[in-house]
Amino acid sequence: MTFLSNAMPSRPLISFEKITEGHPFFVDTDGYPDWSQRFPKPGPLKLEIGFGNGNFILEMAVREPDSNFIAMDFYHKGIRKTIMRLDRLKIPNVQIAYGNARERIPYLFRSGELSEVIINFPDPWPKKRHTKRRLIKPDFIEMLTDKLAPEGLLRVATDFQPYADEIHLVLSEEQGLIDQNSPKGFSHTRDSIPKSKYEKNFLNAGKTISYFEYRKDPDYTLTVPKTLTEMGPASIT
Ligand SMILES: C[S@@+](CC[C@H](N)C(=O)[O-])C[C@H]1O[C@@H](n2cnc3c(N)ncnc32)[C@H](O)[C@@H]1O
Repeated sequence: MTFLSNAMPSRPLISFEKITEGHPFFVDTDGYPDWSQRFPKPGPLKLEIGFGNGNFILEMAVREPDSNFIAMDFYHKGIRKTIMRLDRLKIPNVQIAYGNARERIPYLFRSGELSEVIINFPDPWPKKRHTKRRLIKPDFIEMLTDKLAPEGLLRVATDFQPYADEIHLVLSEEQGLIDQNSPKGFSHTRDSIPKSKYEKNFLNAGKTISYFEYRKDPDYTLTVPKTLTEMGPASIT
């Protein structure tokens, strides 16, 4: 969609502090924001973790005006740009949630509140000594599964094969999730939703991308001791 092009007039960006302070699209809290009050109309709540420059979430929001989107990241430049584009394009159904997904999501959402979670190209941390910094770990996925509604969808994409192998293992071992690409566990194509900036770059470079799609088992109830889910008041229902 050309209207979402990055080609902005060359003027200096307003500072992060200035654009975010009191902005109606910006959420920076450790508490539970009442999401129903933050969007103009009710709709399924969909979360993108690590939205980068915002291309993907803006296209999703335009494509699905009856869904409400929350875009989470801590990348200041991306947040500034995305807020400016939301203002300019008058897109009402996106809220920007600031912070580290691992720390904030337990507080920001109630159990079963999200109909979809999308993680496009999480940082791969390719060096062996850094792999523990990767976002997709069993405790994080257990926490996300708790936040998903019954039959809610979790989508993950990566171009980095060692991370794809790890993601495959973690997702397939999460009891509350059902693989939508069974028995293979992944797909190398995904045409049903817009392409993110990184995705377009990787596809243009001829790289193979692994796409994962899991739904929350509607019969699943968390029986194992929770880890991250116990941290925040938003998990108390
Ligand atoms: C490799 S970029 C991908 C950007 C975008 N999803 C895309 O596909 O074009 C990863 C993004 O995730 C964000 N990120 C990494 N770890 C995060 C975390 N723990 N919480 C929130 N955002 C995170 C980074 O700031 C960055 O914007």
